[in-house]
Amino acid sequence: MKSERERQLMEQAYAEIEKYQDLVHRDPYRLRYHLMPPVGLMNDPNGLIDWNGTYHVFYQWMPFRTGHGAKFWGHYTSPDLVHWQAEPIALAPSEWYDQNGCYSGSAIDDDGKLVLFYTGNVKDDQGNRQTYQCMAVSEDGIHFTKKGVVINLPDGYTAHFRDPKVWRKDGLWYMIIGAQSKSGDGKAVLFRSSDLCHWEHLGPIAGGNSKWLGPFGYMWECPDLFPLDGQDVLIVCPQGLQPDGMRYQNVYQSGYFVGRLDYGRAEFVHGPFEELDRGFEFYAPQTMLDRNGRRILIGWMGVPDQNEDRQPTVGHRWVHALTLPRELRLVDGKLRQTPVKELKQLRKQQVAYPNAVVANELRSWPGVEGDAIELRLDRIQLLGSMMEIHFRHAARLIYNSDEGVLTLERKSFVNGLTETRQCRLPRLRSLHVFLDTSSIELFVNDGEETFTARFFPYPDDRTMFFGAHGHLQMDIEKWEL
Ligand code: FRU
Repeated sequence: MKSERERQLMEQAYAEIEKYQDLVHRDPYRLRYHLMPPVGLMNDPNGLIDWNGTYHVFYQWMPFRTGHGAKFWGHYTSPDLVHWQAEPIALAPSEWYDQNGCYSGSAIDDDGKLVLFYTGNVKDDQGNRQTYQCMAVSEDGIHFTKKGVVINLPDGYTAHFRDPKVWRKDGLWYMIIGAQSKSGDGKAVLFRSSDLCHWEHLGPIAGGNSKWLGPFGYMWECPDLFPLDGQDVLIVCPQGLQPDGMRYQNVYQSGYFVGRLDYGRAEFVHGPFEELDRGFEFYAPQTMLDRNGRRILIGWMGVPDQNEDRQPTVGHRWVHALTLPRELRLVDGKLRQTPVKELKQLRKQQVAYPNAVVANELRSWPGVEGDAIELRLDRIQLLGSMMEIHFRHAARLIYNSDEGVLTLERKSFVNGLTETRQCRLPRLRSLHVFLDTSSIELFVNDGEETFTARFFPYPDDRTMFFGAHGHLQMDIEKWEL
């Protein structure tokens, strides 16, 4: 059952979709095969779950403008992670405990019911914040009934306490929450429950200024903790890290620690922080375990407070999108991300150039171009100092083999100047690229590194050029999507 207020808010949001749908769909930068908001602003993916044979992705949604505010939960479903259907709005910020936003959270199956946990965000007239961890339940996976608050803010933390991720282990439920301690450190905080309604605070399992880590940001958002290939992985989004060489170049970061969670002592023994993605727009990822035992990650193709109001799509009354679903593996202690194999269903016409050569020149191949394409470069052999790929005159990937550095350059959508993101890469063996009308996702060496970014080429520019100082040979395959 929904309250009158929740019904009203949903009606207003549907009216907004209706009102702006022509404007939104006329945007040449509207993506062809990524999840986007129907109107307004989309941020974090929420509630990822493979439930009763259907994949569910919820998302943070502001229907009334292209800025942040009192978030709704939008909802998409898919049979296969490729074909998505928009579902009715799942949650609207209607109650005293979530009136300034149904903030991020997660989904679980409880005995055949689809249960959501999310953060109720409340701000008073003076801007003072309150935070409540809330629950909502559905029998059919489409219509949700709010059950109210299950966790109040425990002592020791500020009201920056949010984004519950819940999972089951040995017959008990666990929840991890992103937090700021009273002393100003980012933390990941663990809770335990036997009935999903009563939660015991077990304490911070990881965070800045702890046994395992020095100062590490003033707030950790969107934690996720899961076992993978024999270890435990903790994903978090720390806010407040300073740029450090090629690292931490975005306003806020998104990364992970590999280690082991000692459930008894509520302690996560872990190694160093690794960024998940090297690109310009990637944040707040969440994972789910699917029917085939795969750990699948979807992230937000955006970063808070990073010039988002300047993205060209704002003129068409929408902003941001989600990344493609990626399968995670742990190889030599590092996460590898590869696009899920179901995405092959998107492939249309193919062109292939085995043993393609670039020798001290900038060149192209017939058909190796486009605005919504998949590109594979395999068996890359570079005898020379540098190779590059130009994407539609708006982004460029450069590999400097002398330095072992891979660089993604793009034309800034704020001032047209060139900006870069980089990572170390001793050898470049393969590249797997997904271009959509205004996004690029790069998977390097079978997912050892990824770069995710929005970019805004002239819509009619479909060009792609390949260059090398020296001799470059590779197998090229390209599909229209
Ligand atoms: C991360 C985040 C979360 C919060 C949500 C609000 O992008 O700030 O911490 O729950 O977005 O939309």
